[in-house]
Amino acid sequence: MTQAIRQIRIPELPVVKEGKVRTIFQLPDGHLLVTASDRISAFDVVLPSPIPDKGKVLTQLSNYWFRTLTSIPRHHLVETDFTRFPAYLAPYADMLKDRSIIARKADVIPFECVVRGYISGSLWKAYLHGEHPYGLALPDNLQESSPFPEPIFTPTTKADSGHDMPVTHAEMADAIGWDLTRSLRDLAIEIFIEGSKIASRCDIILADTKFEFGLIDNEIYLIDECLTPDSSRFWPRSDYLPGRSQPSYDKQFVRDYLNTLDWDKKPPAPDLPDDVVQSTRMKYLDVHRLLTGSDLP
Ligand SMILES: Nc1ncnc2c1ncn2[C@@H]1O[C@H](COP(=O)(O)OP(=O)(O)OP(=O)(O)O)[C@@H](O)[C@H]1O
Ligand SMILES: [Mg+2]
Repeated sequence: MTQAIRQIRIPELPVVKEGKVRTIFQLPDGHLLVTASDRISAFDVVLPSPIPDKGKVLTQLSNYWFRTLTSIPRHHLVETDFTRFPAYLAPYADMLKDRSIIARKADVIPFECVVRGYISGSLWKAYLHGEHPYGLALPDNLQESSPFPEPIFTPTTKADSGHDMPVTHAEMADAIGWDLTRSLRDLAIEIFIEGSKIASRCDIILADTKFEFGLIDNEIYLIDECLTPDSSRFWPRSDYLPGRSQPSYDKQFVRDYLNTLDWDKKPPAPDLPDDVVQSTRMKYLDVHRLLTGSDLP
């Protein structure tokens, strides 16, 4: 096991964005260096304890999907092999290798393109209260965690801090136009369906996921990450039972532990005990192995 990486610093390169998990650097040739740390968030708060290897799992799993899914027309990957990165990055191997990529810089479309195959999380809560946050008509009598007849597109805003807010297709179209809204919806659903089929062969249910898209020369590119445990709900098929919430593949130990504490879910978050860190790490490695058929490089 490598040492956990909480912060990625490259003094030579300007930081374009520091997210909850990723730090994006500007490269001199116009591309981006997208790096994934081992930071983990729960209840939208970044925890002080990192999960060793988590950033590698997110990066390697995304790379696998970017290259495997034929429904992705274009994606942002330029280079994933650290040995082919610019030579001046070589001294940062410990911080970058296997957890960073060189990507094309896109104009980010300011919506999270969420697709759901099953009803869960915030949408289940809204459904119980008879609300229709995305303006979609849903079947009556759904149980918690039951599948929809067809996957549905439930976009949200991209909040810089706090929670992303649901939007209707019409609200999204007001901002970016109907043509782009429909293209993103159809594309996101198509990628979701292809990913679900592959996951299903690995005995994993892809309940829902979130894609980010960007524009380069007026063409749509899939950017950011793809079908990772951070962007998706993966459920082990063997434990699946509708009518209740499902154990999630990755953060269940973290959430269960935090729920035993008297913590108000606001920063600063408490430290995680070592056994919670280790079992969470194993979950991330398991999901990578199950889906890709191999261990981390
Ligand atoms: N090819 C790209 N071009 C431009 N921006 C990109 C590209 N790929 C990813 N990004 C941006 O990099 C950032 C990644 O940061 P990170 O994953 O930590 O996300 P976050 O947005 O803070 O939080 P979360 O993923 O939890 O919503 C996102 O803002 C994403 O839009
Ligand atoms: Mg993100």
